Amino acid sequence: MALYSEKVMDHFLHPRNVGVIEDADGVGEVGNAKCGDIMKMYLKIEDDTIKDVKFETFGCASAIASSSMATELIKGQKLEDAMALTNKAVAEALDGLPDYKMHCSVLAEEAIQSALEDYKAKNPEKFPITY
Ligand code: FES
Repeated sequence: MALYSEKVMDHFLHPRNVGVIEDADGVGEVGNAKCGDIMKMYLKIEDDTIKDVKFETFGCASAIASSSMATELIKGQKLEDAMALTNKAVAEALDGLPDYKMHCSVLAEEAIQSALEDYKAKNPEKFPITY
């Protein structure tokens, strides 16, 4: 069996939504200390919806494929749905990743959450703290 699914190869060789959003509403950057890979996510948000998303990933094939798939999965989604995206869902959408590459999909989940947290921090009036 091939190491990577056709979907992983497709998203690695033809990644969707690569780039930078200059006037992004939320930006998140995460890294994996072990492998040194870095992922950065940019979100454009309107009406509690992800209107646009772009990423830059300095990393392995699985990290690039995971970022690409993750951006496809959250584009057009409501913020709470984007927040709920798990690395497992990203890996499943890619028809699976080898076990030892699952941490690459975790970067995608964390990068999106980090960008959403950045958006929340910049727009506290929209996210009142409730006790
Ligand atoms: Fe580090 Fe894939 S090996 S993210």
